[in-house]
Amino acid sequence: MSAAGQKRTAAIAALDYVQDGMIVGLGSGSTSEVFVRELGKRVADGLSIIGIPTSESTAEVARESGITLSEVDKVDRIHVTVDGADEVDGRFRLIKGGGGCHLREKIIANASDLMVVIIDESKLVATLGQFPLPVEVDPFAFTVTAKKVFDALQSAGIQRPEVQLRRAGDSGKPFITDGGNYILDCACRAIPDPNAAAEALNRIPGMVEHGLFIGLARVVIVGEDSGARIMEL
Ligand code: A5P
Repeated sequence: MSAAGQKRTAAIAALDYVQDGMIVGLGSGSTSEVFVRELGKRVADGLSIIGIPTSESTAEVARESGITLSEVDKVDRIHVTVDGADEVDGRFRLIKGGGGCHLREKIIANASDLMVVIIDESKLVATLGQFPLPVEVDPFAFTVTAKKVFDALQSAGIQRPEVQLRRAGDSGKPFITDGGNYILDCACRAIPDPNAAAEALNRIPGMVEHGLFIGLARVVIVGEDSGARIMEL
């Protein structure tokens, strides 16, 4: 089965975590998009939920799918958030932000009673860091912040990380997030101590949010050729 097929398997299995009356955080990226479209089919069949999107693109897909949306500031709680990831390790630590949406994704996951992660099996890794770590930064003095990001990653045991400003396609212009910020993609090859890396990054002024999600996911659903493998912490 292709990665796309496995993503679909995981996305469909995640529907079991959604019940009538829930407020549901809607993640971003291709796997989340499948989930949102499938959720829309359930809504068309009578399921009543309110969605909280984690990006402008997800909001658009949700609207197309007939899902009623609200804003995180207007709801008392979010019962469950379903989102994809770029990498997941055995302790359910994640790298996210391949699509540049990890700031809102992290805010909404953190505000949720439960975060369910949906991935194809290629995303499950022994050590995080093969996927470049996205770090969202304020455009002001971003070159200064980039040096601090380099130093922080080195201090967390990552040898000579490559920190690069993300560009928008072939335009050469910086990629701009939904929040109006830049993204630094940090090729680390391996992140031996994700907790130390997260703590070091958190100390940098101008660092808006990094893509390490630690202590947030409690369910990981892996789409495999034989079906969905559900892992719970
Ligand atoms: C968006 O910024 C990301 O955090 C996505 O959730 C992540 O990149 C997974 O994307 P795919 O489902 O497209 O692989």
